[in-house]
Amino acid sequence: MRFVTLIAVGVLAASVSGCANYYYDLIGRGEWPHEDNSLYSRLGGQQGVAAMVDGWVDAASADPRIKGQFAKVDLTRFKAVLAQWVCVNASGPCVYTGPGLIDAHTGLAISEADFNAFIDDLKKNLEAKQVSTDDQEQLLSLLQTRRGSVVQVKG
Ligand code: HEM
Repeated sequence: MRFVTLIAVGVLAASVSGCANYYYDLIGRGEWPHEDNSLYSRLGGQQGVAAMVDGWVDAASADPRIKGQFAKVDLTRFKAVLAQWVCVNASGPCVYTGPGLIDAHTGLAISEADFNAFIDDLKKNLEAKQVSTDDQEQLLSLLQTRRGSVVQVKG
């Protein structure tokens, strides 16, 4: 009898969790449960980060200051790998499959001004999405710490 009760409780818990996942997908919050308070979760989990990266890369690849850098890039792949990178670095549950940042940017002649424009495009995107000032600062300063791996020419 006790065994049957255990099975019943298990089935009930699985259904409740399934409904919650469905609900969270509907409102675009990524996976459930969000028991952690990571930056990844605060940015909206998988769907929130994917939407943010989508808007960021669209803006950067249309930005007259840096669009030339993206002219020959497969933007769909770039978005997917950048979203994994943001996820992992914002303490999310992802696996990063791309190259290291130094390797990824070697030979691209990215300048300080290019880097600043790319960050500026993200900042505008975060503001438009009404991400809180604290979360904006946390993400932007995370990216700033990688400046030295990305910028490989002066100017
Ligand atoms: C902290 C800032 C940055 C991060 C975290 C970042 C992240 C990445 C990652 C993860 C990749 C590998 C993508 C792949 O394998 O498909 C990559 C490649 C690349 N990044 Fe960045 N990036 C940053 C800054 C920049 C800036 C400032 C530019 C230019 C303005 C830029 C332009 C590119 C280009 C052109 C590629 C090559 C894409 C390809 O060949 O498919 N990145 N970046």
